[in-house]
Amino acid sequence: MSNIGIVSVGRYLPKRILANHHLEKTVDTSDEWITSRTGIKERRLAARDERTSDLAINAAKDALKKAKLSASKVELIIVATISPDSAFPSVACLVQKAIHAKHAATFDVSAACSGFLFALTTAKQYLQTGMYKNALVIAAEKITNYIDWNDRATCVLFGDGAGACVLAPVRGNRGILSDYMRGHGQFSELMEVISEDPKPLDQETTMIRKPYVRMQGQELFKIAVNSMAEAVEVAVKKAKLKLPDIDWVVPHQANDRIISAVARKLGIPKAKIFVNIDKYGNMSAASIAVALSEAVDQKCIKRGSNVALVTFGAGLVSAANIVKF
Ligand code: ACO
Repeated sequence: MSNIGIVSVGRYLPKRILANHHLEKTVDTSDEWITSRTGIKERRLAARDERTSDLAINAAKDALKKAKLSASKVELIIVATISPDSAFPSVACLVQKAIHAKHAATFDVSAACSGFLFALTTAKQYLQTGMYKNALVIAAEKITNYIDWNDRATCVLFGDGAGACVLAPVRGNRGILSDYMRGHGQFSELMEVISEDPKPLDQETTMIRKPYVRMQGQELFKIAVNSMAEAVEVAVKKAKLKLPDIDWVVPHQANDRIISAVARKLGIPKAKIFVNIDKYGNMSAASIAVALSEAVDQKCIKRGSNVALVTFGAGLVSAANIVKF
């Protein structure tokens, strides 16, 4: 049975940049507070008429071009998102239509910031059983749709974006060497999307507040550090490697202090951790996909590199994969 590998990685970031100094004008915060507490300097915002599927389509096209794979040959499309255009159709179907991937099976995965790795592992299983020959795995979020721009505790953290990769069988000892996925449902209330009660049938004019993110940051911080460190340790062991064998860690980009704490806990030098949170903030499922794409394009990750992908997110859910490129 051949290994399944990541043969290309693409990305798309919306053009509009929202810097910290802009948020200083809208909520009681400062560039100094945001930078020192999170590492974020700016984030991208999708345009009003730009939907999650538009971000996904652009990232998908980039990944297909880099893989030199025609969309008509794609057999499986999985989109990881918690901010789909609507409850249905799935974003995966919208991507299929736009890129003319007529023969693909399509579905979305909802695992918040862990979505990309849950989708990656899911796609890998389909390819490993031989059911499909290739897969397009996309992570796309217009997460700012769910931000309360009056809440300084959350509005400074998030941004929009998309990343995508093509999976296919690879030769030799390369490929996705191990997987780890875990739910921690007992902590579900630590990060939620809150809505007002639905409008009753007899009150025609009631305004329903848009759903928005509510988060207990400090509690999440501690669980994030422990669950990400545990995920890497388990995945490295499953890959029959040791921590010093890992050339690069590409973690979920929620907070640079979380990333540093995970590095310390694992005893991995920070220089081996790929960080781009300063430019994009937390893009939920898209964070790792975009970071991986940049790490490959910047030639940090090269053929033969052992890479640990690791994440945690609302749910709570955590995941890791060890990939030999
Ligand atoms: N600007 C200025 N002050 C602020 C801001 C802000 N934007 N936000 C909060 N504060 C204040 C608080 O009100 C508090 O003030 P007080 O001491 O007077 O009460 C003070 O700063 C400290 O607040 P803390 O919440 O203790 O700050 P902390 O150092 O924990 O940083 C943060 C907050 C950045 C949210 C951090 O806890 C964190 O990153 N947690 C993890 C969050 C996370 O990863 N969420 C996403 C995971 S799931 C997913 O990605 C889908």
